[in-house]
Amino acid sequence: MTAPQPIGAAGSSGRLLDPLGFPEPGEPKFASVTDVRRRLADVGYLADDGIAGVVHLADRLAKPVLVEGPAGTGKTELAKSVARITGSRLIRLQCYEGLDESKALYEWNYKKQLLRIQAQRVVADDGAAGTPSWHDLEDDIFSEEFLLARPLLEAIRSPEPVVLLIDEVDRVELETEALLLEVLSEYQVSIPELGTVRADRLPLVFLTSNNTRELSEALKRRCLYLHLDYPSLERERDIVRRRVPGITDELADQVARIVRSLRSLELKKHPSVSETLDWARTLVVLGVESIDAEQATATLHVLLKYRSDLERATKELASVPAER
Ligand SMILES: Nc1ncnc2c1ncn2[C@@H]1O[C@H](COP(=O)(O)OP(=O)(O)OP(=O)(O)O)[C@@H](O)[C@H]1O
Ligand SMILES: [Mg+2]
Repeated sequence: MTAPQPIGAAGSSGRLLDPLGFPEPGEPKFASVTDVRRRLADVGYLADDGIAGVVHLADRLAKPVLVEGPAGTGKTELAKSVARITGSRLIRLQCYEGLDESKALYEWNYKKQLLRIQAQRVVADDGAAGTPSWHDLEDDIFSEEFLLARPLLEAIRSPEPVVLLIDEVDRVELETEALLLEVLSEYQVSIPELGTVRADRLPLVFLTSNNTRELSEALKRRCLYLHLDYPSLERERDIVRRRVPGITDELADQVARIVRSLRSLELKKHPSVSETLDWARTLVVLGVESIDAEQATATLHVLLKYRSDLERATKELASVPAER
């Protein structure tokens, strides 16, 4: 599907759009890349300069960010954290196979419409008023009161600043991807019965993908790209320290090192950052302050979820003591 041409008219609020038809990006939200990084750290999200740089540019260029990478590397959390630091409302569209326009954009509340039609009939039968014309009825039941706004429409018409998270976009079919592209190209939605709704201000948009399938070139072109891989040893250690209350520095360091060495093995599924955190919390609950190979082996099931992976990791831990 080719992207529809952007319009160049006044927005629904009467605010003038720029010559390309987009709402103005508004005041920059961040002073610099360092500012992004510092503010993300304030809410517990530890980013490197690569991540912070893309967020900074996304705000300046008013472009969506496509965040791709393995499971549990902080893709969703990044969007949530950006919402928190910018004081924006987080609107999330969770994607799944079969997601369609009615769940992504809007749908009419048919049950309520039927009830209204029935109620009108009862009033008419009681002789309290004449039967309403179809025209009046149509105006009535296709009005705002009967509209169920779904996340994309919610984000576009929100009067407050919004971070729109389109989570796990690789799960939707091509038609829905085309719909997303259309909305992200124009930031407007046309509802035949009500008219066109345009964004007054551009939301910050994050699309996440686990790369289970290739997304279209057109969608990628529309976005800035951020590959979120497993963090460096130092950053993962800091994430553990930050997110696991009561952990000793020594244990945080050991956990990060062991997880890193496990990721270098050929496993069916490498441990994610969220599994690193689960493991660290498990060890703290067990009262461990400094881990040995035996304790590591006994709790590996928190990190690895395949029997073959567990066997391989157990062998590795037995042969090479955790690097210090
Ligand atoms: N840079 C980071 N700073 C702080 N916490 C992090 C960071 N990266 C990941 N985490 C932690 O890891 C957990 C998992 O992150 P998240 O759910 O965002 O992963 P994901 O990439 O969206 O995974 P999935 O692909 O499975 O949806 C979060 O709860 C968060 O606490
Ligand atoms: Mg996620």
